[in-house]
Amino acid sequence: MPNVKITRRLHFSAAHRLARPDWSEARNQRTFGDCANPNWHGHNYELDVTVSGPPDPGSGYVMDLKELKALVEREVVADLDHRNLNLDVPWLEGVLPSTENLVMRIWDRLAPHVPPPAALDKLVLWETPRHWVEYSGPDG
Ligand code: NI
Repeated sequence: MPNVKITRRLHFSAAHRLARPDWSEARNQRTFGDCANPNWHGHNYELDVTVSGPPDPGSGYVMDLKELKALVEREVVADLDHRNLNLDVPWLEGVLPSTENLVMRIWDRLAPHVPPPAALDKLVLWETPRHWVEYSGPDG
């Protein structure tokens, strides 16, 4: 069976702070730099969601991109956009909101909802245009 990858990019803006309460202020500043500033800061995130599978013989689609967009908006963007990642998001409670930790939690939100035979293949989460992380799931 042919396997084709499709990608949809979505956007959200969110505030966060990277600091561990069990570390000293100096150690937080040394480790996280500007991301440890006490009074929050924001990022304009881009999220590239890649789904792979065989194109449907009827529609020619791996997955309808409108459905993929709606899924990501419902499960991820609606909870994160214009929110504080440290305070506002129940599924990030207790999570240090580094881009790495964030992309893993986003995977867990999306993977169960992708309709077979398609499957979530890869996420790329951009924190800035010059800095991004990639994740292909716990088995990837
Ligand atoms: Ni930051």
